[in-house]
Amino acid sequence: MILDPEELGTRDAYKFLIGSVVPRPIAWVSTVSGDGIHNLAPFSFYTVASRNPPTLAVSIGPRTDDQAPQKDTLKNIRDTAEFVVNVVSMPLANSMYESSLGHSPDTDEFAEANLTPAECEVVRAPRVEEAFISTECVLDQILPVGSDHLVLGKAVRFHIRDDLYKDGRVDLETLDPLGRLAGNYTKLGGIFELPMG
Ligand SMILES: Cc1cc2nc3c(=O)[nH]c(=O)nc-3n(C[C@H](O)[C@H](O)[C@H](O)COP(=O)(O)O)c2cc1C
Repeated sequence: MILDPEELGTRDAYKFLIGSVVPRPIAWVSTVSGDGIHNLAPFSFYTVASRNPPTLAVSIGPRTDDQAPQKDTLKNIRDTAEFVVNVVSMPLANSMYESSLGHSPDTDEFAEANLTPAECEVVRAPRVEEAFISTECVLDQILPVGSDHLVLGKAVRFHIRDDLYKDGRVDLETLDPLGRLAGNYTKLGGIFELPMG
């Protein structure tokens, strides 16, 4: 079968994308508004954009409600030029879900999700203290791509729980990251090398 995204239409092409680009990592993005309100939301259109300087890419789509012209995360990044990407480990899955619900811009999503905002070293946005890894980012650029906005952020600090970092490597078993499938989730089912014997 061959499908033409234009013939599929926006909704089905989107469903094809989220069913075929799998599993996706989740950037759990914390920001602060110009008024000092903490915001937290997950984004699975997310990857590394450059190794040097270390740069992360997060794609933020249009708002699906009419509460505001854009998602709070995008507005805060535009206003402050900073954000933090936290990793969602399995014990934090429900808190991540809570933070994805459409809260109004004046809601502190850390409080809603029972999470602790911890101070960062370079940026004013808080990191999630309970996250095993958090990366402080300074905005590089925001590229409009179709209906979405691709946010590129230069990593300026990595935070990692001490026991997860040995000999320059991250302990992935303990990190236990949550992955996004189409609308569902997945977790590590085993780590192996190639070629297989
Ligand atoms: C696991 C997960 C992944 C998501 N990925 C994205 C994404 O890649 N892009 C996007 O625009 N929204 C994504 N969303 C939806 C946002 O998290 C949601 O719209 C959120 O309310 C935005 O919050 P904000 O207005 O505080 O920025 C995702 C939601 C979940 C639960």
